[in-house]
Amino acid sequence: MKKELLTFGCAAILLAACQSDGLKLREDNIDEVIAAMTLEEKAGLCVGVGYNWMDGKDNGWGEREARVVGAAGTTMAIDRLGIPAIQLCDGPAGLRIQPTREGDDATYYCTHFPIGTLLSSTWDQELVEKVGKAMGNEVLEYGADVLLAPALNIHRNPLNGRNFEYYSEDPVVAGKIAAAYVKGVQSNGVGTSIKHFAFNNQETNRLRNNAIVSERAAREIYLKGFEIAVKESAPMTVMTSYNYVNDVYTSESVDLLTTILRDEWGYKGVVMTDWTGGYSGAKNIHAGNEMIQPGSKQKYDQIIAAVNDGSLPMEELDRAVRRILEMVVQCPSFKGYKYTNKPDLTAHASVTRQSATEGMVLLENKAEALPLKNVKNVAVYGVTSYNWIAGGTGSGDVNRAYTVNLMDGLKNAGMTPDENVVKDYEKWIAEENHRIDSIRPKENAWMFNEIPGEMNVARTDLATAAKTNDVAIITIGRTSGEGSDRTIENFNLSDAEQNMVKKVTAAYHAVGKKAIVVLCIGGVIETSSWKNIPDAVLCAWQGGQEGGNSVADVLTGKANPSGKLPMTWPVKYTDHKSSANFPINKGIIQAGSIPEPATEVKDVDYTNYEEGIYVGYRWFDQQNMAVSYPFGYGLSYTTFTYAADDVKANGDVYTVDVTVTNSGKVAGKEVVELYVSAPKGKLDKPVQELKAFAKTPVIEPGKSAKVTLTVNASDLASYNEETSSWEVDPGTYTFKVGASSRDIRATSTAEVAAKTEKAHKVLQRVATK
Ligand code: BGC
Repeated sequence: MKKELLTFGCAAILLAACQSDGLKLREDNIDEVIAAMTLEEKAGLCVGVGYNWMDGKDNGWGEREARVVGAAGTTMAIDRLGIPAIQLCDGPAGLRIQPTREGDDATYYCTHFPIGTLLSSTWDQELVEKVGKAMGNEVLEYGADVLLAPALNIHRNPLNGRNFEYYSEDPVVAGKIAAAYVKGVQSNGVGTSIKHFAFNNQETNRLRNNAIVSERAAREIYLKGFEIAVKESAPMTVMTSYNYVNDVYTSESVDLLTTILRDEWGYKGVVMTDWTGGYSGAKNIHAGNEMIQPGSKQKYDQIIAAVNDGSLPMEELDRAVRRILEMVVQCPSFKGYKYTNKPDLTAHASVTRQSATEGMVLLENKAEALPLKNVKNVAVYGVTSYNWIAGGTGSGDVNRAYTVNLMDGLKNAGMTPDENVVKDYEKWIAEENHRIDSIRPKENAWMFNEIPGEMNVARTDLATAAKTNDVAIITIGRTSGEGSDRTIENFNLSDAEQNMVKKVTAAYHAVGKKAIVVLCIGGVIETSSWKNIPDAVLCAWQGGQEGGNSVADVLTGKANPSGKLPMTWPVKYTDHKSSANFPINKGIIQAGSIPEPATEVKDVDYTNYEEGIYVGYRWFDQQNMAVSYPFGYGLSYTTFTYAADDVKANGDVYTVDVTVTNSGKVAGKEVVELYVSAPKGKLDKPVQELKAFAKTPVIEPGKSAKVTLTVNASDLASYNEETSSWEVDPGTYTFKVGASSRDIRATSTAEVAAKTEKAHKVLQRVATK
């Protein structure tokens, strides 16, 4: 392949070289450079140089491009025109590169920051920006250009294997948190790639699943977050998803990539495929997906052939090349940035440790069981306490130097874990690891999700431990990742886990002591059957490499948890409307190469988004259905009272001022949520929708802080498919200030005038499947 690349249009290059002697790319001569490029160079620039995944050795193309070992891909370098290779590396929980290199003693570990779901649970845009800034610094200092993150698909269903990378069931939370992340990363002069655009809501058959979704749900739910992120943070790139939407590959969809993304939202950056995604290179370019990653000779040939036979006009290829060059000139590789390969990993470890505490959600806390008081000896249960899970698997994993487990976190906080309990778990985990090693696949090991099964708690002496320890901490763990969806069994607790919660709690209660449950999970699990048994439940999510320390900081009260849930926790899985149309326990279907013709299996080949806009709390509210924990819920070690002014209108802008007072005994932060209920109008509407949120700074006991929540009239619009327009119905709107979607503390109303904004009719089905 390399030979072919070298010979491709060799004569043409020689000729071009003579004609453009000395011409080198600058910010202000992009058109001149394009004019000097051969067709082969243009096609080459649009197609990445192939895999140099993990080992730094590529498969023919791009040896000189593969500078950052473990980069997911690069663009092609064209030396004669001064165009360097741009290094694209994975995220979103940190920079994913290879940690060691052949013949090199140095290490290249990166910080594993909290997973996306934890970051969104902070509801704190300032904090997420700070995390992004630290992450982006590693991108810059390790010589990379673009971080393939953040990921912001909607949590349509709790079993999506990649929900841990994603933010929320609500597009406003997803969009605002993504925008903060992008701003933070890009403040380093490197790029981001918001992904996966769009409708990547299941991993089962992800390369060819056809998401069948109404235009209204597409625009209001699945695209809204991307729209917010594009408009508020100008990400350098966008990554399309693998799937089809309404019969068209997203990476070949003119509607999605040109009409919506560029014409309606004004996006100016580059769009790239997901890895090996898409089918026709020429159709990608035509649709507005200018970069095809990681690239193959086949896609390169397709583009050249399409230009030669006239099916892809040269102007369209030039437009793609222009956008790529506009990206290249912004990148550190182009600017010749002298990276150190030595980011400040110690400083970043403290950023991740602290930020993780802010996204943990305190779900239960009976009789102020937490923070722990006068605890010295602690018995630690659950395999995950020892085998801590820093984040999910697949491309969203990070090659970190270490993971602090909960037992070590508690030790670091001055507690003494019971040695006998430790020994019992270590023995069990060793046995389990042996079993897991025997089934670990040779290929795709990075997507492998198996973790030690839960130990039967009867293998440890509960009664003795309850006498000698001050408290029991029990961890329940879950992992998930790219390439497969979670199962019902993964959603529910296993018998061993149910027993562990019951028996440990009973043993400690019998001697007047408490039992605390910690959830080290990447997605929602069943809680209603057991949550009232222990004294407290802390959802710690997966907080990255410092996870055990972060949890200890919260358990001891060094940090007061201020996270709230960015998704609803149902009583049972099937309460979600989308569970009627989701691949439940269909088995692992890994990404293959080019999709075969669809075989029309429901929820595998196609998925009907029958619930329309009724995703998450929009559904539970409409049904008035009981939930285990509502959207936006989370406790604190303190309490807050709210005093909200009535909504004020200033032209098209509506604001609500809220004074939050700390009415408890310890300092803390509070997330304030603003929901709006629309008057009855032409379209069917959710009972209420989140329109704004804010997090207070730390408020000392007895003190107050004011936050202002702002809503624009256009944020109140719904999409009318009949008229192809965003419409605000006129009438009385109710503005509700809440501590969660089901804990509304103040309401007021405002008259809102009618408003219409015309859009385009898009995303219509092209085939009946
Ligand atoms: C994932 C992307 C990732 C890419 C590059 C794909 O399999 O879906 O999220 O950025 O690989 O590693």
